[in-house]
Amino acid sequence: MSEEPASPRAAAPPVLELREVHVAYGAIEALKGVDLEVREGEVVTLLGANGAGKTTTLQAISGLLRPRRGEIRFHGERVDGLPPHEVVRLGIGHSPEGRRVFPLMTVLENLRMGAYRFRGGARREDLDRVFTLFPVLAERRTQEAGTLSGGEQQMLAIGRALMTRPVLLLLDEPSMGLAPLIVTQIFTIIREINEQGTTVLLVEQNAAQALKLADRGYVLETGSIVMSDAASALLSSSRIRAAYLGEGAAE
Ligand SMILES: Nc1ncnc2c1ncn2[C@@H]1O[C@H](COP(=O)(O)OP(=O)(O)O)[C@@H](O)[C@H]1O
Ligand SMILES: [Mg+2]
Repeated sequence: MSEEPASPRAAAPPVLELREVHVAYGAIEALKGVDLEVREGEVVTLLGANGAGKTTTLQAISGLLRPRRGEIRFHGERVDGLPPHEVVRLGIGHSPEGRRVFPLMTVLENLRMGAYRFRGGARREDLDRVFTLFPVLAERRTQEAGTLSGGEQQMLAIGRALMTRPVLLLLDEPSMGLAPLIVTQIFTIIREINEQGTTVLLVEQNAAQALKLADRGYVLETGSIVMSDAASALLSSSRIRAAYLGEGAAE
């Protein structure tokens, strides 16, 4: 978007830093020394094929998985090894892959869960923020989450993560399985969330749209970062175009 080689955000302090992060599932090494950073105010996208380790990376950040080696810092403080609820309390919200809303609970109950478990109760202003971003959730507030469309469930998963009032929002494949029009809508809302001051780490297989939204991007292949650059540079890189923007790229 910008013609500047480096965005002004490049000078902002890092909110999140991963250094040489290794995560294994038993004998399976899923992350083999991941280095990544997200600065205040940025949208950073983490791209990669299925099985590359994207979800594992987000789960390590949010405390669901413990790195075998390496460090994860949030505002300079070590967070690796902390339990998930502590990580949420520090200001890291996570909208998981596959959405994972509570299907038999209403929209409102799902949103209150987001806040209640970690912050001691939903705040009116947080609910208002979510309902302003996602008017359809306000309309459907008394409806069971399981009856929502895929796109609406995705909005609810993001909304629930916002109820914890995150400084950093982790989004795991928010566009997965959704129709193109809904995907565009979700990406527009992610931009809006970022413009309201929330830093975003976005995991996507939809590289074209993710790179148009992001300031910077990283490419993960079988547990290692193989490229990182300004999003505009990645968008025009022939390697990225061949591997991730070939068939099925947006537009
Ligand atoms: N619970 C698990 N047990 C064993 N292996 C796993 C588990 N979850 C993921 N993996 C493996 O770890 C690697 C990274 O997976 P994942 O982080 O889910 O990738 P991505 O999100 O990029 O598709 C893959 O090889 C996957 O098969
Ligand atoms: Mg995944």
